[in-house]
Amino acid sequence: MLQEGFDDGKGESVPKSFAEELDDLRDRGLYRSMRRIAGPQGGRVVLDGREVLLLCSNNYLGLADHPALKAAAVKAVERFGAGSGASRLVSGTMELHEALEERIARFKGTGAAVIFNSGFAANSGIIPALVAKGDLVFSDRLNHASIVDGCLLSRATMVRYPHNDMAALRRLLEKHPTDGRRLIVTDGVFSMDGDMAPLRELVALKDEFRALLMVDDAHGTGVLGATGRGSAEHCGVMAGIDIHMGTLGKALGSFGAYAAASREIVEYLVNRARSFIFSTSLPPAVLAASLAAIDLVDSHEGSALRDRLALNAAFFRDALKSAGFDVMGSETQIVPAFVGEAEQTMTFTQRLLEEGIFVQGIRPPTVPAGTCRLRCTLMASHDEVDLARAVEAMARIGRESGAI
Ligand SMILES: Cc1ncc(COP(=O)(O)O)c(C=O)c1O
Repeated sequence: MLQEGFDDGKGESVPKSFAEELDDLRDRGLYRSMRRIAGPQGGRVVLDGREVLLLCSNNYLGLADHPALKAAAVKAVERFGAGSGASRLVSGTMELHEALEERIARFKGTGAAVIFNSGFAANSGIIPALVAKGDLVFSDRLNHASIVDGCLLSRATMVRYPHNDMAALRRLLEKHPTDGRRLIVTDGVFSMDGDMAPLRELVALKDEFRALLMVDDAHGTGVLGATGRGSAEHCGVMAGIDIHMGTLGKALGSFGAYAAASREIVEYLVNRARSFIFSTSLPPAVLAASLAAIDLVDSHEGSALRDRLALNAAFFRDALKSAGFDVMGSETQIVPAFVGEAEQTMTFTQRLLEEGIFVQGIRPPTVPAGTCRLRCTLMASHDEVDLARAVEAMARIGRESGAI
């Protein structure tokens, strides 16, 4: 992509090279790289040959390595093979696709459901299917990047409202009358902040302004609510949400995503969502693992894992607060610790890693400049001794570096 150029001496502007762009990122503390881990995603992983505490995985319930999911995946491969062959509209839909969609619709209490290949694919397919030029989409300022991209792709007018500010959203809904559709879209649990959307108020507003309400519950599904149905269950508004979007690759330990909605909306998405239509569908192993994961979420074991996770999250959050960290309004298993600037944040994560604690520093463009943080995510498989050790290290480094 062309960035600001410089004069090459012949009067022509030459774009910066990719190497220069990468150097810029390094200089600004915004360079990203991947770390290799060995073995499955558990409470501890082996990183560069050394065991570390994993505090940055979305495998909240520990299902990614659960024997029931692995057995289901293996059985499905033996029976149905490794791949799905094409888009379901092209080479046919498999019985496992249908079984998973029926299971998700039952889980969410909706008329139907349709699965997507990832949460990113879901958001960038659903939103442009529902709204287009001439329509309005109201999006929380802290919504996930895939929602922002979905809104931009739709070419509807995007109105971003201040985070969770229902008075501001009301004013914006009043200020933007339309003959077209209105869609309000929000994360159920905000992925970098760990707070929740005020779903009761959002349902009341969408009813009053005759808008559609879509909730991305990537981080609530399987975790929140008495039976793990997510943030809508937690807020008691399951029936008030028009489109429940959720992911299968976080608490559910598998991969993929879904939209659960009325039969009519789901049929419409199958006909209009480009990321569904023009992409090879999820393979049998993933479908079977997702089915096993939902059964687990619905079991006593699932309920016990949710309780354990909630205890771990509360313990860790309270300990961080007592140590003097700003946890940025976290109410869930996502617990950020505010640091501020990018370089300071990355130095912090490096020092934690040296002490055997693997946490991600979150920087722009994921979060606004000056609000960099350590995004800690809790799992049911963590224990309090490890968590207390992590808080102790964070507090010590935080004091030494002036972050607290
Ligand atoms: C709120 C939210 N929506 C969507 C996604 C994308 O989901 P996936 O990882 O399945 O593409 C994420 C994942 O990072 C997320 O946090």
